[in-house]
Amino acid sequence: MIKVLSIYGTRPEAIKMGPLCDALRNEPEIESLVCVTAQHRELLDEVNRLFDIKPDFDLDVMRERQSLCGIASKVIAGLEGPLRELRPDLVLVHGDTSTTACAALAAFYCGIPVGHVEAGLRTYDMAAPFPEEGNRVIVGHLAKLHFAPTKNNARNLAREGVTKGVYVTGNTVIDALKYTVRKEIMLPMTAGFEKYIVLTAHRRENLGEPLEAICRAVRKIALSHPEVGIIYPVHPNPAVREPVYKALSGISNVRLIEPVDAAVMHNLMSRCLFVMTDSGGLQEEAPALGKPVLVLRRETERPEAVEAGTVRLVGTKEEEIVTAAELLLTDKAAYNVMAKAVNPYGDGVACRRITQAILYEYGLRETPPDEFK
Ligand code: UD1
Repeated sequence: MIKVLSIYGTRPEAIKMGPLCDALRNEPEIESLVCVTAQHRELLDEVNRLFDIKPDFDLDVMRERQSLCGIASKVIAGLEGPLRELRPDLVLVHGDTSTTACAALAAFYCGIPVGHVEAGLRTYDMAAPFPEEGNRVIVGHLAKLHFAPTKNNARNLAREGVTKGVYVTGNTVIDALKYTVRKEIMLPMTAGFEKYIVLTAHRRENLGEPLEAICRAVRKIALSHPEVGIIYPVHPNPAVREPVYKALSGISNVRLIEPVDAAVMHNLMSRCLFVMTDSGGLQEEAPALGKPVLVLRRETERPEAVEAGTVRLVGTKEEEIVTAAELLLTDKAAYNVMAKAVNPYGDGVACRRITQAILYEYGLRETPPDEFK
């Protein structure tokens, strides 16, 4: 029997750790424990409810307009107690948030091995995404086990000399879609629109002028296509809400709504025309649902879907965003090329592979999990 402690703090981590925590708790040889830092509060709690996860520890660190140093110091100090009390055999962290990096560091300082879920994503630019690129590089070097979604991610790790304990598993977000995409889920926010675009934008490096340019572009697209809805769940961060509501309120086909839970978001995407976003997770989810994605960033750590043709990097310049959206709205052939359902991120059994890899590493299975193809 081994004790595995999953630590996460934000909504995207929770969506991708939810199905894994479910797989871990169903494994008789694993005692699965969960600690949330609550770097996010409402956004996190709703995802935990979706996967029926009741955390064993909750650090409750979120404050309004929190700084990175504020989050980091509270997470590291707050985790020492639970880590020393529980003495897990393995700590699992996910991705690249400040919770992720600080939880890995705290476990490392307490002498507890770390497993990194969604390992090996890189842009090779410490400024974008900031601070996520730095966070995942740190964890890549502290962790003992690395669960890379794609072969490309494993190659990125190998380039940094990380070759031991690396498993290519697929991304757990594809597993999450199996819990959430359901025809019977009602989407009242789409009422009255035959076709609609899903929009999200809230990345730290897009705050300020890039976000304002995105809003100007959205305004233009909305006004020239009144028949198409634009549904924008707005992140609770005041640095996002204030400029977005100022720029986009009062346009009849733009619906600014409160953040939606993962199930609603996945169903919104599965029925939309296309997605415009600066999020990382949506770049993985939308291709799996056969939807084109315009990425409102200059770079991406997810080149697989760009290569496959379902994701296009359009940046944050007003004119470029308008041109790219116009093409999808008016050119059926161009739309169809992007909409062809290619999903480079997994086959929906990443959580099983990760669980099996953990059991193998701890001597509880004789054979390693099959490789992700
Ligand atoms: C964080 C992650 C980012 C991830 C994103 C998803 C870091 C450095 N960044 O960025 O990688 O993609 O989460 O959203 O870890 N807030 C609330 N309620 C909530 C959540 C946030 O009010 O439930 C507000 C707070 O005012 C908070 C602000 O949002 O100060 C920003 O949250 P924070 O976690 O600092 O950054 P994110 O931009 O969400």
